[in-house]
Amino acid sequence: MSQAPAPTTVPHHVAIIMDGNGRWAKQRGLPRLEGHRRGVETVRTTTFAARDLGVKMLTLYAFSVENWKRPQDEVGGLMGLLEYYLKKELETFIRDRVRLRTIGRTEEMPSSIQKLLRTTMEETRHFNDYTLVLALNYGARTEMVDAARAYAAAVAAGKEKLNDGSWATFSRYLYTADMPDPDLVIRTSGEARMSNFLLMQAAYAEFVFTPVLWPDFTKADLAAAIADYNRRERRFGLTSEQLKAPTAAK
Ligand code: IPE
Ligand code: IPE
Ligand code: MG
Repeated sequence: MSQAPAPTTVPHHVAIIMDGNGRWAKQRGLPRLEGHRRGVETVRTTTFAARDLGVKMLTLYAFSVENWKRPQDEVGGLMGLLEYYLKKELETFIRDRVRLRTIGRTEEMPSSIQKLLRTTMEETRHFNDYTLVLALNYGARTEMVDAARAYAAAVAAGKEKLNDGSWATFSRYLYTADMPDPDLVIRTSGEARMSNFLLMQAAYAEFVFTPVLWPDFTKADLAAAIADYNRRERRFGLTSEQLKAPTAAK
């Protein structure tokens, strides 16, 4: 059905910094919340577009730890939209076999949202073909502090040996413990920054920055980002020649 080019390699895990809702609204003389409302529609379409294109995991940066500092009515509006979205999508997730997960300090989210998240995650936990990860009250630095604290507690309890410390061990204390790292990180709205998103996990991700504002982001834009990803050579510190003769690199 799609006019998108068939990508040769589909990134397993795509993570998106959904940005530009406010500017989208401003350009139309609408309140910022209207931009967020349209942004939710894009969340919906992108969730299914990504799966159609063969992506297995989609992480969406929905609310950062810093976003609490926005005007109170905007924060309230965003929470209301999230609640509406979760209520409406549960049925669709079950019908279309989408597993929902979260990363971030969700325990600090409003209790009504926590409850909806728990129900949705519980009811979709058996689906393993496609996972939607919502980053909610997420911040990479907060994640690092939480992981360091949990790791230190495990060391103190004798469950981890300090001298055995490695990234493989430590990363099990991150919110993303059992998730693969993102292969492709997309940011919409023309900004080229990370804004505290998956700083460690994106160590070797490919980045695509698109000027498209999030409410306008389409399946074709996602396919274009994947096509761009396909033109890159991911070297992970090796040389191009080593990659072409993979056995020699081992
Ligand atoms: C992204 O759009 C949505 C959230 C951060 C929740 P913005 O609200 O940041 O939109 P701009 O950057 O003001 O255009
Ligand atoms: C990043 O967007 C956070 C989310 C997309 C949820 P922001 O709009 O909050 O980032 P900055 O403030 O422009 O860096
Ligand atoms: Mg923004």
